[in-house]
Amino acid sequence: MNELSKQERYEKMKQIRDEVVALKNSPLYEFRVAEGNKPVIGEGSHFAEIMFVGEAPGKNEAASGRPFCGAAGRILDELLASINIPREDVYITNILKDRPPGNRDPLPEEVELYAPFLDRQIEIIQPKIISALGRHSMAYLFSKFDLDFELDQISKIRGKVFDAKAPHGSVKIIPLYHPAVAVYNPNQKDLLKTDFKILKEL
Ligand code: URA
Repeated sequence: MNELSKQERYEKMKQIRDEVVALKNSPLYEFRVAEGNKPVIGEGSHFAEIMFVGEAPGKNEAASGRPFCGAAGRILDELLASINIPREDVYITNILKDRPPGNRDPLPEEVELYAPFLDRQIEIIQPKIISALGRHSMAYLFSKFDLDFELDQISKIRGKVFDAKAPHGSVKIIPLYHPAVAVYNPNQKDLLKTDFKILKEL
């Protein structure tokens, strides 16, 4: 396994940040500048064993440059607290690093443009578990890790553990509902809480 030092991880992450900041060929770049938004690279431990991958920054995230810091973020914080895992110990990011206008779904060409940054973040952090938050992130990660044949509706496979191979070693992919589903729906939050327990068990 390729052990990267703290300094190497920091520098590689900074390189990603610099490239995304300068990503003028992104269809979302003009919107970022017009809104005075920031790209959202990711946050957390560069040595995290668990990585969470959401969809794209929302309004609060793009304003602050931090992932999951709005309503969905508060749910994520509550879910992490429910299994006693400090937010600083995990790494939280998204497929898209810029906010799509009106929080619409990511377009395939946007996923194609931004996903290589996520791929590099996975190579830097070398997580043991990657949790896909929501169906877009699930679809991308299942395709990246040759799990297409296992892909199903998120309601059918949420909370299940899928073993995959990454260059750094084996990795478990776990699809979960996007925390945003629980913002106005306590039943969904209970489901998420139940599913989150698997992260603690592993
Ligand atoms: N939703 C996401 O998918 N990501 C965020 O960072 C915030 C909301």
